[in-house]
Amino acid sequence: MTGTPPRPTSYWDYIRVEQLLGLQSGIAAHENEIGDDEVRFIVIHQIDELWLKLVLRELTTARNLFAQKPVPEDALAGAVQSLRRITICLDLAAQHFKLMETMRTQDYLTFRDKLNPASGFQSAQLREIEILMGLPDEDRIPLGNEASYMQALRSHDGSPSPALLRVERRKADGPTLKAAVDAWLHRTPIDGCSPGDAGDEAAIARFIERFLAGHERLYQRALDHAVAVQALTKADEERLRARYKGQFQGAVRHLGAEDVPAEQRAFVRRLRAAILFVDSNRTLPLLSWPGQIIDGLIEAEQSMLVFRQRHARMVERVIGRRVGTGGSDGVAYLDQTALKYRVFTEIWAARTLLLPPDLSPPVADRNWYGLTHE
Ligand code: HEM
Repeated sequence: MTGTPPRPTSYWDYIRVEQLLGLQSGIAAHENEIGDDEVRFIVIHQIDELWLKLVLRELTTARNLFAQKPVPEDALAGAVQSLRRITICLDLAAQHFKLMETMRTQDYLTFRDKLNPASGFQSAQLREIEILMGLPDEDRIPLGNEASYMQALRSHDGSPSPALLRVERRKADGPTLKAAVDAWLHRTPIDGCSPGDAGDEAAIARFIERFLAGHERLYQRALDHAVAVQALTKADEERLRARYKGQFQGAVRHLGAEDVPAEQRAFVRRLRAAILFVDSNRTLPLLSWPGQIIDGLIEAEQSMLVFRQRHARMVERVIGRRVGTGGSDGVAYLDQTALKYRVFTEIWAARTLLLPPDLSPPVADRNWYGLTHE
């Protein structure tokens, strides 16, 4: 045997501890030229960027899985794990804002000016997460003094920065998780029928009709109950009746996909029916993992919203309602993103429509979905 024996691995080489600990000086030449508040400010941002890195890896894994056709049934457990990890990473990232809040406004103001115009708005990884999840560009809220979020990622001389290139690469790398998951959910067999089957359209129409009949009964029941127990005035009763009627009509429009362009209607109609079918029958073996995927997507997106809201409250506490260093109107902009940046809208919308078990249309053939002892 010739050559040098392999070097034993050390913790410091593997984790790259020295390199890591040398990265907290910001734009100063050395870390001891800046104060504790600023080092903490940098560390928290760096830790959060690392959590975002893990979120991106898990999102990519989940997206790649759902982009397959067909999606292997035995891979769904892995997707559920990925979605859980995304939720955990975002929850942990949001917790760091508590440490940031220990910094007083006056202390932050001692070094805030030198950040300008740098801002979390230039976090390429947050943009990558939004893009990979499936946030459409037209839903974005303009920042204020920037032409677009892509413009904000350019270097000061206008040249493309590594952040811009990273986001451009992500944009070119389809499909989004939303598109892949929607395509997969859309293929769900409903009452044993799949897209392309001869009887599929009729099966969808039947399912929707039975589901809406359940809704009519639900609202009538709720209204009867309210009238019986709330001693409503005639005017109150009418108002409530109109509200329930409006909600029922909303369900009809939703399940008819009347809100989408005609060429997308058949796809969206089947997708919406499929989400309700899965979520209403998740105790059936074949629908159990899909049910968990639906939960995982909602949970991951909820964590993202909470992250945004938590960041906004921290920002309000530290800088009030000042203009952001990135030029936005600060907290008002951040609150808008928490309200409007929704990706898995179809899954959220189903929550308004789900029925109690006694009103849910029964599955035509339960054995088809893996029940063997009935
Ligand atoms: C004192 C601490 C902080 C303050 C005052 C602050 C303030 C702000 C403000 C005002 C914005 C809006 C854009 C702008 O005009 O600049 C923003 C955006 C952002 N911040 Fe912070 N931030 C702080 C800490 C953090 C931390 C620790 C993170 C962790 C990664 C973070 C991540 C982000 C991200 C990702 C955005 C872009 C949000 C979006 O466009 O949806 N910020 N921040």
